[in-house]
Amino acid sequence: MSNDLGKIMITGGAGFIGSHLTEELIKENKDVIVLDNLSTGNKSNLDFEHHKENMRLITEDLKNSNQVFEQIKDIDTIFHLAADPEVRTGFTDPISAYEQNIQNTFLLLENIRKNDTKRLVFASSSVVYGEPEIIPTPETFGPLLPISIYGGSKLACEGLISSYCNNYGINGTIVRFANVVGSRAKHGVIWDFIKKLKTNKTQLSVLGNGKQTKSYIHVKDCVDGLLFSLKNTKKNVEVFNLGNRDMVNVLDIASIVCKTMNLENVNIVTEGGTDDGRGWIGDVKEMNLDISKISNLGWNPHENSKDSVEMAAIELYSESI
Ligand SMILES: NC(=O)c1ccc[n+]([C@@H]2O[C@H](COP(=O)([O-])OP(=O)(O)OC[C@H]3O[C@@H](n4cnc5c(N)ncnc54)[C@H](O)[C@@H]3O)[C@@H](O)[C@H]2O)c1
Repeated sequence: MSNDLGKIMITGGAGFIGSHLTEELIKENKDVIVLDNLSTGNKSNLDFEHHKENMRLITEDLKNSNQVFEQIKDIDTIFHLAADPEVRTGFTDPISAYEQNIQNTFLLLENIRKNDTKRLVFASSSVVYGEPEIIPTPETFGPLLPISIYGGSKLACEGLISSYCNNYGINGTIVRFANVVGSRAKHGVIWDFIKKLKTNKTQLSVLGNGKQTKSYIHVKDCVDGLLFSLKNTKKNVEVFNLGNRDMVNVLDIASIVCKTMNLENVNIVTEGGTDDGRGWIGDVKEMNLDISKISNLGWNPHENSKDSVEMAAIELYSESI
């Protein structure tokens, strides 16, 4: 596909991953419209040093997509990142996953169809695989049977996107991220541990048995891989895994965070969680994505999972003080 992305919109562009993507694109001198309701995102995430004039923030909810698209015409490429990104809360609040993820994606697709937007890039997740029999898991693995409400909502979005792309000539890139870590994150295990340790420096509560083992990717690699996936989309809908080859378990992350915060002799307590050791209902115990597809096309992450976690711990701790 062409490298010319034309007029770009990023939904959720003021959030953790979205702001890094926005920053990268405006660094490349592209004009970017950020559509964000600032529910978990923040204006300060968009406080970049250079090319600020290339960015316009529209503070609006995706449920009002119709009004937004009445004002803004001729968008060529949409990166759709706005979502309820919490895997953990899906069990107690499934409505949010439905409204924020499925319903809003549908509304966005309707506007994409009506406005002849050419390209859609979707931030999906490793959790669509559920608990696959093959690990590392390739994009071709199936059936896809997610075990979390969030995972189910992401898979539903993938299905809607695939059908819209096939019916209406939209070019779709679906990227399934491993756990993304790095500066500006306001959720996830590292942020959670830092927050807990700032309140209590002697004890850290870890949800589940701490043996959950997963692959992590630094947000800079995530953005880089996302843009590479878009450039390498050849079919009308293409799916890419984005992650790392190594994995880190939750207890190791707890030790990394304690070390980063210069805390010794912290009592790490595994508690809460489910009877079979998960952190919460719907938590996948082992996740590792097969990244051969993107790797064979010439993209590899710069940092492995362990280094990504260490870097993110430093970045998030320094943001918190
Ligand atoms: N962080 C991860 O590890 C990870 C892994 C896999 C997939 N993802 C996906 O990547 C995307 C970005 O996640 P993130 O971690 O940056 O989360 P985030 O919460 O930091 O970003 C989401 C952004 O979307 C905005 N938003 C939410 N609902 C909205 C709505 N209705 N209208 C307009 N804006 C809205 C929020 O204000 C926020 O800025 C999400 O789709 C998430 O599901 C994240």
